[in-house]
Amino acid sequence: MNKLVIVGVGLIGGSFAAALKRVKLPYEYIGVVRRESAAKEAVELGIVDRTVSSIAEVAPELGEGDVVFIATPTLTVANILQQCAELVSPYVTVTDAASVKGSVLEAVQDAYGCIPSQVVLGHPIAGSEQSGVAAADPYLYRTHKVIVTPTESTGEDHLRRVRHLWRMTGAEVVDMSVQEHDQVLASTSHLPHLLAYALVDSLARDEEHDNIFKYAAGGFRDFTRIAASDPTMWHDIMCANGDAIVRSLDLLTDNIAQLRTAIIARDGQAIKELFTRAKSSRDYFSRMISHRTREAKMQKVINYRLQPGGEVKGTIRVPGDKSMSHRSIMLGSLAVGTTEVTGFLEGADALATLSAFRNMGVDIKGPVDGKVTIQGVGLFGLKPPTEPLNMGNSGTSMRLLAGIVAGQTFSATLTGDESLSKRPMKRVADPLRAMGVKVDTEEGGRPPITIHGAGHTTAMHYDLPMASAQVKSCVLLAGLYAQGETSVVEPAPTRDHTERMLRGFGYEVKTEDAKVSLKGRGTLTATQIDVPSDISSAAFFMVAAAITPGSDLTLEHVGINPTRIGVVNILRAMGANLTLSNEREVGGEPVADITVKYSPLKGISIPEDQVPLAIDEFPVLFVAAACAEGTTVLTGAEELRVKESDRIQAMADGLTTLGVKATVTSDGMIIEGGAMGGGDIVTHHDHRIAMAFAVASLAASEEIRIHDCANVATSFPGFVSLAQQVGMQIEEQTL
Ligand code: S3P
Repeated sequence: MNKLVIVGVGLIGGSFAAALKRVKLPYEYIGVVRRESAAKEAVELGIVDRTVSSIAEVAPELGEGDVVFIATPTLTVANILQQCAELVSPYVTVTDAASVKGSVLEAVQDAYGCIPSQVVLGHPIAGSEQSGVAAADPYLYRTHKVIVTPTESTGEDHLRRVRHLWRMTGAEVVDMSVQEHDQVLASTSHLPHLLAYALVDSLARDEEHDNIFKYAAGGFRDFTRIAASDPTMWHDIMCANGDAIVRSLDLLTDNIAQLRTAIIARDGQAIKELFTRAKSSRDYFSRMISHRTREAKMQKVINYRLQPGGEVKGTIRVPGDKSMSHRSIMLGSLAVGTTEVTGFLEGADALATLSAFRNMGVDIKGPVDGKVTIQGVGLFGLKPPTEPLNMGNSGTSMRLLAGIVAGQTFSATLTGDESLSKRPMKRVADPLRAMGVKVDTEEGGRPPITIHGAGHTTAMHYDLPMASAQVKSCVLLAGLYAQGETSVVEPAPTRDHTERMLRGFGYEVKTEDAKVSLKGRGTLTATQIDVPSDISSAAFFMVAAAITPGSDLTLEHVGINPTRIGVVNILRAMGANLTLSNEREVGGEPVADITVKYSPLKGISIPEDQVPLAIDEFPVLFVAAACAEGTTVLTGAEELRVKESDRIQAMADGLTTLGVKATVTSDGMIIEGGAMGGGDIVTHHDHRIAMAFAVASLAASEEIRIHDCANVATSFPGFVSLAQQVGMQIEEQTL
């Protein structure tokens, strides 16, 4: 097992170790801690496995694949680097977390006499007022940015290792040069601290200062909060990053001088122009922050606790369709005119798509009660994003957006959370490359993925190697930017929302048997989109009613697109009592109310042609199979292994925990229906695994505790309250 040595196990170092231990990253965690009491505490809290008192003590044990992480105050890093240069093997990765990178790079040069390939400098943009090992927080870096500053001599393997470690803490990794990092931090952090200290000091020295503090209200308080920070730490930073801070200060001084002149001249127009400009930048920033806060909330640990039994009765409407919500933002943005969307799913996945398009300059209002208004910019009106586009947990956002960015005149990097960072993107990178687009991925074709748009793509025909609506859609969207016809043939029918919605935007798309084609460079015309309820969310309640004696549940306004109704077909084949009523068409998509009543289920061999039509519903269909009499066999479903989790393994493990006989095969599962007990379920942060086991509680004989359910909010916000409303005995616990 490789070793991870944390030098300085305080807030930063301790949180790093705690975050990686939480996701069970297989290292031996060794703290370098001088004070005995702190060393004891670090081990007792389980932050590290053992401690040593110096680098010299551990250095002889270290070799290739091991990592030294320096998390000591900025001005002591030089000393540690000196020791690393003298004692640590050149095969070991050495990295740090100091707030200024230029001075650390100089220290590296002094210590090693060069910049060795093993040293990778980094800086997490996260912290807290607390310090010490007791403040270590495994979630400190989640959704925060970490800047790594590779140089020409940085070794690829070392860099990859450091990026991977940070990503595993839940952080988003961004590359910058050392100079850029120090200038950005000088402007965004160091200068504001300097100003806060200076303002408080100059007002406090004023003779009236008592009065000033007595009457100072929100403006003073908000502006100067950071002047209460640790003066020693900020002294270190000001000294270490002086040049960059002075450059930012000079820019600000010019700006203040202009304002001073305008005020003396009572030049209201100039003042107003400057303030208006600043306000619009600040508003943009506020929107970014509120998106991040939403994300951070989702990163809280939420567990479900379910009592066995319960009822499933009533009439409910589940939230809007996720696939259509994504596409409504994408196509609405690329259209000419104003598109109005109703029924939009306010789940984190669709919101990630929405934020990405805002970040590319599209004016999008909402969502408010499911209503979104998009001012389309046309196929070529998107702007280069100001930062990497974070797609969160959403594979659909990443793969479809890749196709759109392929046709732009700019490059964009698409990143994602822990789960998305493990999912395959080669399946979209390959066809995009065949369309003449340069695409970079991480090792193994994983995210982040950078697409270098060149303003056009090359039309092509593509035989999809797997039945995937996301890959099909990616190629078709890239085809919008090609001269001539782009076509795909799918090995089995998959959801056709892209095709239908493009037609809704007045864009011609041909479907002939398994082949879909379109001609590029046309125009999408803005439209109205009414998003029906998501059949994939409704599925949890369909199975809930199907397995619960005495149930009678109606799900209203559910999308029943023929490419999505595998769950209805499979449940009916198992003997479920399921009726569709009030069938109608809404905006090019068929919709119905679905009523489900209890009837005994029997095991079946699931026809392989139904697999792509029910691809997201298998977690809950496995629960139905566990409640059925006899054996259910699923084959031809290897795609389930590359969803938000390996859904075959995760479901088999959970069912086994509940006492059900579930045998994993390479492309599916064999389930013997039978009694279900209770237990603790590992969801791997997969929303559908969490909801499927919540449904299982209806047929269980003991309590079920489901861990890490926060991601349910990616697709089904409000799941718990709807489940309670129909009579399920579910309780949510936030940690
Ligand atoms: C989706 C397609 C499916 C599905 C996903 C949504 C889409 O993925 O699992 O939840 O909106 O196109 P694949 O294309 O990977 O099968």
